[in-house]
Amino acid sequence: MIVAETKDRVARIEIARPEKKNALTVEMYARMAEALAAADADAQVRAVMIHGRADCFSSGNDVKDFLDIRREPGTSPAQGFMRAISTAKKPVVAAVGGPAVGIGTTMLLHCDLVYAAPNARFQLPFVPLGLVPELASSLLLPMLAGYQRAAELLLLGRPFGAEQALAAGIVTEIIPEADLIEYARDAALGLAALPPASVQLTKSLMKRGTAPAVAERMAEEMRVFTERLQSPEAKEAVTAFLEKRKPDFSRF
Ligand code: COA
Repeated sequence: MIVAETKDRVARIEIARPEKKNALTVEMYARMAEALAAADADAQVRAVMIHGRADCFSSGNDVKDFLDIRREPGTSPAQGFMRAISTAKKPVVAAVGGPAVGIGTTMLLHCDLVYAAPNARFQLPFVPLGLVPELASSLLLPMLAGYQRAAELLLLGRPFGAEQALAAGIVTEIIPEADLIEYARDAALGLAALPPASVQLTKSLMKRGTAPAVAERMAEEMRVFTERLQSPEAKEAVTAFLEKRKPDFSRF
């Protein structure tokens, strides 16, 4: 379900669970965290590439897992992955086509180059799910997009396309679907050909200003997020998704 392989100094992480639109399970988060840690530890790896298929990046956290709340408050199965992607030393290139929902969008805020196909459909449905944003998106999106644009995307939680993601600063460039994966791979190979210390130091210098605030916000979001998972609002939203019906929040 996660394919991880290194070739030509590029660590490729492929999300491959097409029957569930690449929804991410506990195991998949763990594999991705391991692959990112291995890439940082291996001097031969110069860049990381994350992708799904050109028609599906990821539908985000497996919604079923939201109901399975046998976890400590303030923790998440995604936590190791979140820490790994938000502190990755090697540059990360993402190729996004089709759905990129929830963490499928918020992980992009931590990537260095994000290429999206015109069919990309981003969504930050935390509020419609009775939850709150994660992965420091409540901090990074307003910084990237400006408050009003971030508020529209995070409060309404509606899907948005590649052009809007480009305007919000989430996406580096829009690439035709047929060329998407190859284009992102070329960019990763381009990074891999550069002086590695210079690349990593530049990334580190760019991220340094926000790193402490990102870590702090992630912890705060996680605390509120796990509280919200227990809320009747979230239960109604998740149950409605699994029952394939519209949620009804009128009684809250
Ligand atoms: N978690 C668990 N299962 C998911 C899922 C998710 N995040 N996203 C999709 N699936 C499942 C569907 O339940 C369906 O399963 P089934 O075939 O057993 O019925 C299958 O994947 C195909 O999804 P479907 O909704 O039929 O595909 P679609 O092309 O019509 O829509 C999405 C794709 C991504 C827009 C839609 O599936 C969706 O909105 N998913 C939920 C996203 C979400 O809220 N994620 C949480 C973010 S915090």
